[in-house]
Amino acid sequence: MTTTKPLITIAIDGYSSSGKSSMARQLAKTIGYRYIDSGAMYRAVALYALRHGMIRQDQSVDSASLVQSLPEINISFAINGDRQVTMLNGEDVESEIRAMAVSNCVSPVAAIPEVRHALVAMQQQMGNEKGIVMDGRDIGTTVFPHAEMKVFVNASPQTRAQRRVAELIEKGVQATYEEVLANVINRDHIDETREESPLRKADDAAVLDNSEMTIDQQNEWLLNLYNETIARK
Ligand code: CDP
Repeated sequence: MTTTKPLITIAIDGYSSSGKSSMARQLAKTIGYRYIDSGAMYRAVALYALRHGMIRQDQSVDSASLVQSLPEINISFAINGDRQVTMLNGEDVESEIRAMAVSNCVSPVAAIPEVRHALVAMQQQMGNEKGIVMDGRDIGTTVFPHAEMKVFVNASPQTRAQRRVAELIEKGVQATYEEVLANVINRDHIDETREESPLRKADDAAVLDNSEMTIDQQNEWLLNLYNETIARK
């Protein structure tokens, strides 16, 4: 006799470059859930703003123009080969949204309340039927406050910057450790101090500091937590 496991909602939040996206993606693959990278959605909006001259020299955003353009920004996900890619108005922008130019302006863009309201509504719609793993900054607190499983991931800024540089170099993207560390620290600050749904741990989230963990160890930790959560249902 086969028993069907109940579908749940899994929210994985944490600091920039903490490895949450790769562990979230891997868990979704293992358990056959849909995976959504909410950061990619904020990055796609930031790319749109960059391309349309809405980011000023000092990285501040022309928020009035961006808010007015929101109805023209269509974000979706598609499968390209064995990869899930981010689409902006029908164009695959997966590589472009990872560039430092986007990393440098994404947090100011993500701090605009109207941008957050639009993306949170889309994310909630995507999670309507459960069976989803979503990672970001406010998934367990704002997007899915009733998620059955919540994780908050952290690691030291130095560890996170080292990981991000290695990842960027592997993708052929130019970046120095100093530049990435400065970006990580700056985004942490903007994400934690913004008015609208700042980055913070949900009271009922399990905390994972993966500074000293290998990728396999963190994947195993997450899968164990999923199995425990399902067993309690
Ligand atoms: O670089 P990393 O993978 O850590 O960040 P990301 O997940 O791609 O997210 C990029 C930026 O989008 C973050 O630094 C936040 O400013 C913003 N973000 C957010 O505000 N809320 C989310 N749910 C996800 C991302």
